[in-house]
Amino acid sequence: MNRRDLLIGGGLAALGTLVPATARAAAAVARPDWTLGVTDILDDIAPRSLQRIHGRAPDLAGTLYRNGPARFRRGDSASGHWFDGDGLVRAWQLRGNEARLAARFVDTPKRRLEEKLGRIVQPGFGTLQQPGAIVGSSDDTNAANTHVIKAGNRLLALWEAGSATALDPASLETQGQVTFRDDLKHMPFLAHPRIEPDGRIWNIGSGGAAVYVWRLSKHGAFEAGEAVKLPMASYIHDFTATARHLVILCQPWIAGAMKLPFSKSLTWQPELGSKVLVLDKDDLSKASVFDLPPLSFFHLGDAWEEKDGTIRFDGCFHKDVTFAVEGAPGLVEGRYVHVERPELNLVALHPDGRATLTPAGITAEFPRSAPELAGLPRSATVHVGGYTGDRPFARSVGSWDWVKGRHDSFDFGARHLVEEFVPAGQHHLIGTTLNLDAKATELHLFDARRIADGPVASWRSDVALPLSFHGSWVTA
Ligand SMILES: [Fe+2]
Repeated sequence: MNRRDLLIGGGLAALGTLVPATARAAAAVARPDWTLGVTDILDDIAPRSLQRIHGRAPDLAGTLYRNGPARFRRGDSASGHWFDGDGLVRAWQLRGNEARLAARFVDTPKRRLEEKLGRIVQPGFGTLQQPGAIVGSSDDTNAANTHVIKAGNRLLALWEAGSATALDPASLETQGQVTFRDDLKHMPFLAHPRIEPDGRIWNIGSGGAAVYVWRLSKHGAFEAGEAVKLPMASYIHDFTATARHLVILCQPWIAGAMKLPFSKSLTWQPELGSKVLVLDKDDLSKASVFDLPPLSFFHLGDAWEEKDGTIRFDGCFHKDVTFAVEGAPGLVEGRYVHVERPELNLVALHPDGRATLTPAGITAEFPRSAPELAGLPRSATVHVGGYTGDRPFARSVGSWDWVKGRHDSFDFGARHLVEEFVPAGQHHLIGTTLNLDAKATELHLFDARRIADGPVASWRSDVALPLSFHGSWVTA
């Protein structure tokens, strides 16, 4: 165990000089190896080739762009929450059997300031503000670390409480925070836009008791926007949409007076239940509201509408907010808090005003489906899962079929930390895992119809990247 291991590892840097060297060494030995998933990356990752370690790839060419926090600690300071590390955008480029990786930090005002100071000072979702912080607007705290999409000729690195940040898709160079219209500067632009099969982008920006509804063209240009009142002032990380409607699920995690870090503004009030606001895309004044039991969530699947008007969508639902307020902050400290895992459910909003929940009977996160079916009827939900009680993070990838009630999944085993998988083309899934034995991040390609058979091809990088949140497959 050398000094670099100690500093780059699982949160011990936060203890810094307060802990005697002997105690630091003992703690380092006991550090669980899953903390490689929340390690710090110190510099951009220069373009490099990957080693193919398994199988042969089909004729598929494109790039899996992914985004996630990758710098949590500076000097004797540390982020107070997994959601607050600096965004590192990774480009996993695939052309047949050849795969390459490059990654670059999003050059945000937050990162520039903290680089200069050598300390983490900006407040975040769960990080306290420190002396030296500069907070003129929410974009000064924007970590640009949650998702990345291609919109027109640029990438957008997304966060949830401020602007999108534009990047060059080839070099990953930061072009700057995006102002879609002058009077909308700093308006929140959520990390989970819904993209119609023709490319039109819908998004919302959350602000307490109201949301701002964004509509962008397929080229990423502003088309329209409007503020809409919510049934309750819920924390919103994700929403969904059918071809005709926006569907905003409001959980009873309610924003009160603004406090920093932001999570301190939220209180869990299960007695309120959950509500679903459905808006007509063509006329946002046409709204209906449905009631659901209290549930907590981060992620929903795409929604669709049936001939009788029933709207269906899936979601990964927690029973409460323990993961958000205890589990995720603990990860950065190298502390595992065992919490209930999210369960995959299908929500139905019936024409008679009833809303019902159907559980799949599996734990799952990161629900994704084919982009060409966004807003349209579908049966399959891609997800990760296979959680065990002894560590955080998923170990399997799967697809749940809502029509057949069938689960097709592959378990990478206890030595992999599994990240989100997304459809790539008509027939494949692509995603990454962190191999704890090789101490390296791997890229895996699956046949979407035969997931249990394992990857059709896998490549290994020469770097261990901390786990990322979300990404997009962009065909070459
Ligand atoms: Fe998310």
